[in-house]
Amino acid sequence: MRNRLPPPKRSALMTSSSIRPASDYPPGGDAFRHRHLLGIAPLTPWEISYILDAAEEWVEMNRSGAAKHDDRLAGLTIINAFFENSTRTLLSFEIAGKRLGADVVNMHAAQSSVKKGETLIDTAMTLNAMRADAIVIRHASSGAVQLIADKVDCPVLNAGDGRHEHPTQALLDALTIRRRKGRVEGLTIAICGDVLHSRVARSNILALTLLGNEVRVVAPPTLTPPAMERMHVATFTDMDEGLKDADVVMMLRLQNERMDGAYLPSAREYHALYGLTPARLDKAKPDAIVMHPGPMNRGVEIDSSIADDPERSTITEQVEMGVAVRMACLDILTRRKRGVPGWN
Ligand code: NCD
Repeated sequence: MRNRLPPPKRSALMTSSSIRPASDYPPGGDAFRHRHLLGIAPLTPWEISYILDAAEEWVEMNRSGAAKHDDRLAGLTIINAFFENSTRTLLSFEIAGKRLGADVVNMHAAQSSVKKGETLIDTAMTLNAMRADAIVIRHASSGAVQLIADKVDCPVLNAGDGRHEHPTQALLDALTIRRRKGRVEGLTIAICGDVLHSRVARSNILALTLLGNEVRVVAPPTLTPPAMERMHVATFTDMDEGLKDADVVMMLRLQNERMDGAYLPSAREYHALYGLTPARLDKAKPDAIVMHPGPMNRGVEIDSSIADDPERSTITEQVEMGVAVRMACLDILTRRKRGVPGWN
């Protein structure tokens, strides 16, 4: 099954997605106009490229053998408020804040007053009263992060809200693609699996179509969100068809914790029809890369032989890019607060 619409027209501003010199961007706060990072939806292609270019600098520093430290956020307090379980995203934000010299505090919902019945607004007011300089939030409900952002005085970064958005994941994915493929435009990208429950898919669809790629969704009908054509993506229910000539294959985890009904007969059946096997991957371009945001269900949505193949799989590189992208976001969003010239 195939349902196809042309990708949106490219922005006139967007000529190349390779690294631009800083002088190409408007100066100061005009280069990135937002107070928060709540999603990809409000961003322009320029703003996405601006973050990716800034992240490149941090990739360099993080790879250097020397001390990985820059003190530009010294004296600032960053609160990571995670109302939902996370390993890599929480660690990644914590490392990013610390490498920039900030004081980073983690709040886990399991140990917080949320369990005692406190409302989200009261939690937000409490965090605000502690005079955080940036708050990073993950929450199981779509829209919860926006609600908190409306109540606090500092920048808020969305680390994943329900099925809505996970903007730093889409940015790190775009950076990974750009580094592996030399560009992140004009590519055919297949996003495969549990798209219905995935904020990663949503943010990636927004970012990758905006940057001028052809995005396809490949999923069982029960896990395909309605009205995908409005997001300018083609939908496929057959893996072999959906992967044909793809440059990038992005696999998603089966989000069992978000399923409140029977979407699938069994994990075994899912693997038989939608698992990424070497034979299926052969349908994509010979140099196609394989991505996964983690955590992976090996043997369900992806075979270990592919996940562990350094030529094809970008999984560990995505984790690495995550730290750099989050450093870039924390730096950019706190510039106003730090009085960086031009960012008032
Ligand atoms: C993703 C998430 O939490 O949305 N993971 C992540 O950020 N590392 C994807 C997932 O949970 O499957």
